Amino acid sequence: MPSDTARLFFAAWPSPEIQQALGELAQDLKRECGGRAIPAHNIHLTLAFLGEVGRDRVARLEEIAAAISGQRFELNVTGAEYWRHNRIVWAAVEQCPGALQALAAGLEQALAPEGFRFDRRPYVPHITLLRNARRAPATAAIPTIQWRVHHFALVESVPHERGRVYEVLRDWPLST
Ligand code: 2AM
Repeated sequence: MPSDTARLFFAAWPSPEIQQALGELAQDLKRECGGRAIPAHNIHLTLAFLGEVGRDRVARLEEIAAAISGQRFELNVTGAEYWRHNRIVWAAVEQCPGALQALAAGLEQALAPEGFRFDRRPYVPHITLLRNARRAPATAAIPTIQWRVHHFALVESVPHERGRVYEVLRDWPLST
């Protein structure tokens, strides 16, 4: 029986080509750092994490998202970073574009009055590539991957026998 709640988040969802490039990077880093590589089809950039949400609230979330007026932006993914506390290796962008910062903040501001609670820490764009990594990458520099973000998406994290699969429920365009 389908559950009445879903684990949801808003994300920038890469094209299959960008996912493939980031997936290959994850495989390369896995050889060096160990851990578990995120499969290419799951790689994304989280904008706002909602957690477990009643399915009856999805329609309202979609209305909120449709009212967001965000701008397109370009990401230069240029670094591989490591967080020791949670053993995540992640891809970093050279600089957080103002439009990305504004989109993440705009979503949080629109969602907070609806009862969603967010981390107070500043938004740090990160694309998770490895979980349970044993060590940091020896060098932070990676060949640049250019990702033009034209949409943002509402995504569901669906449990499967062999881990979670992220499914885009709906997406919305960003303006030029
Ligand atoms: P992570 O990659 O750093 O784990 C789906 O789980 C997405 O939501 C992932 O990008 C994950 O980030 C993010 N996420 C999971 N729990 C979160 C939390 N408590 N706060 C912010 N982001 C979270």
